[in-house]
Amino acid sequence: MRILGIETSCDETAAAVVEDGRKLLSNAVLSSMDLHAVYGGVVPEIAARSHMEAMTPVINQALTDAKCTWDDIDAIAVTYGAGLGGSLLVGVLTARTLAITKDKPLYAINHVEGHIYVNFLTETTLSGYSLPAQAPEFPMLGLIVSGGHSQLVIWRDHFDYTLLGQTHDDAIGEAFDKVAKILGLPYPGGPSVSKLALKGDPYAYSFPKSRLQSKYDYSFSGIKTAVLRTAQAEIGEDHTFPSSGLSERLTEAQKANIAASFQRIAVETVVDKTVQAFEEFQPKSVVIGGGVASSPELRKQLAERLPIEILYTDPKLCTDNGAMIATLGSFHAKLGQPAADPYSLEIAPNLSM
Ligand code: KG4
Ligand code: ZN
Repeated sequence: MRILGIETSCDETAAAVVEDGRKLLSNAVLSSMDLHAVYGGVVPEIAARSHMEAMTPVINQALTDAKCTWDDIDAIAVTYGAGLGGSLLVGVLTARTLAITKDKPLYAINHVEGHIYVNFLTETTLSGYSLPAQAPEFPMLGLIVSGGHSQLVIWRDHFDYTLLGQTHDDAIGEAFDKVAKILGLPYPGGPSVSKLALKGDPYAYSFPKSRLQSKYDYSFSGIKTAVLRTAQAEIGEDHTFPSSGLSERLTEAQKANIAASFQRIAVETVVDKTVQAFEEFQPKSVVIGGGVASSPELRKQLAERLPIEILYTDPKLCTDNGAMIATLGSFHAKLGQPAADPYSLEIAPNLSM
């Protein structure tokens, strides 16, 4: 069974073909990141317009790379939430139209669940992908860490899960992006902060960890403010000093120390909760999804503190892609989940888990 997955929730226009929920046949992604970089973040109108231009060529690329014609495709899966409204609309309307005109079942996919399900891919016909040798097993603890989401979820089986906790404010990737801005580093901030952190002392500053009532929830607004106040204090200014003027007054050593200390604490915040959940639920597998899953610091801390090994998927599948949507779509189709009505499927920008 071959599923075409379509993903347009943020700034990546993506489509992919997956066979039987485990074999990746193609993964076409076109990012409009370069167009947003000058603004320091994704501009929704620019993202939506880019999706309109890129959608059809990206789908054609995914079919060509998979050596498939429409006759080889058994169903279409599409992200209907969460995400930017204008961006989601392009993917959903495209998928609805294709489901009707090509006469294929349509599956509506939750983007955040997709980030976890991409870990079920264990084979590919493509070169340049390093996939885990085996699929995760249930119970499965899932940590989603991206620019838009930070969630901890326990799956007892397919489609049977409980959201244990999530962020109360910024997602972890968003915190990396905001700290990068304070330090004058390019967008997206995660990779730039990670790189600079290698040159700094992770214990130079003791930034606060969020303490929330609910056991598995977390927050990143406190640490972000602490980074700002520390940077202002280091250059001898008070809290009224604008963040845009900080990077030119900080020394390279101060920036590296701030990056390293921030990264250590931000990562520890999610690792603490993951370890706690591991002890409570004793899962057979732990899987990580989202752009921050490629953080070397996150991988290091998890390896040090969890008693089981995490099998990571290829970094190209950690960021937004169509393969994650096609993989979860395969399980929807295989396990008899209801298909969506192609005449009425709506987007759900605030979809939760
Ligand atoms: O999953 P993703 O591509 O998009 C969303 O669905 O949000 O994640 C992008 C996020 C960005 O915030 C980026 O800064 C972060 O992932 N990121 C990292 C690293 N690589 C990407 N954060 C920390 N360390 C990294 N190495
Ligand atoms: Zn995502």
